[in-house]
Amino acid sequence: TALHKTEASAAAPAVNQPVLSKEVTVLFGSQTGNSQKLAKKLSEKLKEQGLQPTLSSMSDFKPNTLKKVENLLILVSTHGEGEPPDNALSFYEFLHSKRAPQLEGLRFSVLALGDTSYEFFCQTGKDFDKRLEELGGKRLTARVDCDVDFEDSAAEWMDRVLASLNEAPAAQSSANGGGATVWNETQPTEYSRSNPFQAAVLENLNLNGRGSDRETRHLEISLEGSNLQYEPGDSLGVYPKNHPRLVDELVQAMDWNREELVPVDKNGNERTLLEALTGHYEITVLTKPLLEQAATLFPGSGLQELLAPGREQELRAYIKSRDLLDLVQDYQLKGVSGRSFVSILRKLPPRLYSISSSPKAYPDEVHLTIRKVQYEAHGRERYGVCSTYIAEHLELGDSLPVFIQHNPNFKLPQNPDTPIIMIGPGTGAAPFRAFLGEREETGAQGKTWLFFGDRHFSTDFLYQVEWQRWLKDGVLTRMDVAFSRDTDQKVYVQHRILEHGKELYQWLEEGAGIYVCGDEKHMAHDVHAALATMIEREGGLSSEAAAEYLARLQQDKRYQRDVY
Ligand code: 2AM
Repeated sequence: TALHKTEASAAAPAVNQPVLSKEVTVLFGSQTGNSQKLAKKLSEKLKEQGLQPTLSSMSDFKPNTLKKVENLLILVSTHGEGEPPDNALSFYEFLHSKRAPQLEGLRFSVLALGDTSYEFFCQTGKDFDKRLEELGGKRLTARVDCDVDFEDSAAEWMDRVLASLNEAPAAQSSANGGGATVWNETQPTEYSRSNPFQAAVLENLNLNGRGSDRETRHLEISLEGSNLQYEPGDSLGVYPKNHPRLVDELVQAMDWNREELVPVDKNGNERTLLEALTGHYEITVLTKPLLEQAATLFPGSGLQELLAPGREQELRAYIKSRDLLDLVQDYQLKGVSGRSFVSILRKLPPRLYSISSSPKAYPDEVHLTIRKVQYEAHGRERYGVCSTYIAEHLELGDSLPVFIQHNPNFKLPQNPDTPIIMIGPGTGAAPFRAFLGEREETGAQGKTWLFFGDRHFSTDFLYQVEWQRWLKDGVLTRMDVAFSRDTDQKVYVQHRILEHGKELYQWLEEGAGIYVCGDEKHMAHDVHAALATMIEREGGLSSEAAAEYLARLQQDKRYQRDVY
């Protein structure tokens, strides 16, 4: 029709320029929600540029449509020992299998999120990037690997992606609208990761009984006036402070003047060295990139030798459980100003904690359940930065900089009648207190089953009184506990899973969802194996079929994990 013709000619590219598709597929693989949030932001920017983004989780993306995709943008994080996030697994496996199609027509770029303190830094992003090239794809712009302070690198990658997508058709730039942001004065402040809310501390209790070798804080903080909203399953980001003793010893070891002004960001803001080392920079983790920069800053210190090829094993062993104080003492680093030194440090990243309250049960509040991390290594006591700050330094009335980190990958079922199985030993119980609070407040009728575990029944049964009240009121249908150090033989939650396999399998067949929260490396791994064994036994399936059963649950979002 005429109308279509007009539109087509208006959008016609200048002569000799290739016609590029406006369609862009944005896929994210996200565990804690960072990649997902960035993907959403990117998708909005693409729209502003007149492009047509399709935004999707990798787990929701139909791999057989990949051949039709012309522009593919991937945002993906890496976990543990280089593993993809749960919702990236199926797509990752597909792409690396023989079923993956040739992708000559594809243009792509990858944003990888990770943490340089892990050996397999950004491995999942690197794998996607390499594989897409192998399959014939062409890079729109080079992959960017982000460290924990990902904001700036991610923004730069987005700018480059947008520029490269815009390179060809002239018509697209006119759709840009100038890019001016309209600032509405009456709009309330939006608190976020980059602009945290100063939340007042209402309660800070130790949940463990006298004589326990654990210390778990129950923290209640006020969100009043923040306009921050959350749902059960979401996390709270918390900006901690470094231990004053560690800061002090570092300053002394380096012979610095603590009043020296040093930059704390790229915008030229400055703070005293004391403030900067306390609240702005990470000083408790050594990474390979940090050591490389330190080697340049301190030539002749011996760091160069430690970084030499062939000594990777030694380097790995050295940086494990050591901090900046060890580094400056062991290598006798001296003679560099605080200003130069902080230029090689990472920003102090916020810590994410699964929220342990239902906002319906506690309006305007958020509760956290945080275990204090403290251990000895290399002849010195070591403290978890945030947990120790909260346990030892945070008093009632103090304020804590926080933001909400939505986690769409850990959510109660839409249907309140759907049964749920919750597996959360230790502080892994946190989101389940939120789940049950929510189900109580909304009068949901679905059955609920909690597996909890910790070391000792008498001192470590976190929230015992609340679980028991919920059991009595019928909000909690069943609870099975495993106290690992009350008996000669250790019992863990996965042993309880296997003991009650028959009923569990029945719940699954009735459509129950499984939720696992807590330690990733040991617990979640062993629980996964136990679930597979249980399904194999009770369903009379082969181990392959049982693995498939679990994979399908994961795909259908009926098996969700919040693990760390
Ligand atoms: P442990 O400390 O006695 O080994 C919460 O931290 C609980 O999780 C503790 O009882 C702890 O037991 C237990 N735990 C440790 N490793 C585990 C694993 N691989 N699987 C399940 N629970 C585990």
